[in-house]
Amino acid sequence: MQGRDSKTKLFAIIGYPLKRTLSPELYNSAFKYLRYNARYIILRIKTKSLKKEFVRLKESGFSGFNVTIPHKEAVIPLLDGLSYEAREIGAVNTIKVMDGKFIGYNTDAQGFLNSLKDENISFKDKSILCLGSGGAARAVVWALAKKGASKIIIANRTRDRAEKLIRIFKNKFARCEFKVIDFKISSLKEGLKNSYLLINTTSVGNCLLIKPEWLKKDLIVYDIIYKDTPLIKAARQNGLIAINGLGMLVHQAALSFKIWTNKKAPIDIMCKVAIQS
Ligand code: ATR
Repeated sequence: MQGRDSKTKLFAIIGYPLKRTLSPELYNSAFKYLRYNARYIILRIKTKSLKKEFVRLKESGFSGFNVTIPHKEAVIPLLDGLSYEAREIGAVNTIKVMDGKFIGYNTDAQGFLNSLKDENISFKDKSILCLGSGGAARAVVWALAKKGASKIIIANRTRDRAEKLIRIFKNKFARCEFKVIDFKISSLKEGLKNSYLLINTTSVGNCLLIKPEWLKKDLIVYDIIYKDTPLIKAARQNGLIAINGLGMLVHQAALSFKIWTNKKAPIDIMCKVAIQS
């Protein structure tokens, strides 16, 4: 880790509980590689103190932040402005501090699309089952609808949250059919039947959520968690294409890096670090 001086720019990831995050390794290695005088740290902030902490952060001299679970939607009222994508999606994963103003961006959506492009996966006119309705789901669903998915079925533990999400997106994407199903075994089985892509956007990385025998030939499985979850392992065991969230993590980070520094991120270095960590 490089040293700090009075000109060192400070960046941080805000979230909770943030047990394990690769973001500091990704950004600090990119800063080091480009000899960019900056440092990236972790700030664990609980939901109940988010508002109070933001007042403090505005005085703190940070240059930017990443925002993760559970604050991607909750930070919006605390910001001074939003990019087009962040406003459309209704979630922020990146904040740039400009002249003391906190401006929110969303690089999850484009990061997700870039990761699919890397894998040569096209979902145009396809039906997709999405698990989850949090901030990450908003970005993923927005990206899928914007780029031509024909149907998006959403299942979330808290059904109301899924209903709310599709109410907003239905108006924006008239050509995409949206449907909410219950987050229970029988509904998920049904929802998977004609799906081309199954995406887990929930934070559940320690259990399967669905039964392995439902993972049929030709289904593509994507889990935005950046390790091989039981879902990813089961899909691979069944011979399916299974993609974990490592690619999305690197791509969204590279896009945030560009927003903060106006420099092209050394994506190969970031990718190498992500794989090794
Ligand atoms: P992020 O911004 O990363 O999406 P989030 O907004 O906190 O994080 O959303 C987390 C998602 O994981 C939500 O869809 C959440 O479901 P709820 O809306 O019902 O809270 C889902 N999730 C978290 N823990 C879960 C669990 N144990 N079982 C099922 N879903 C869970």
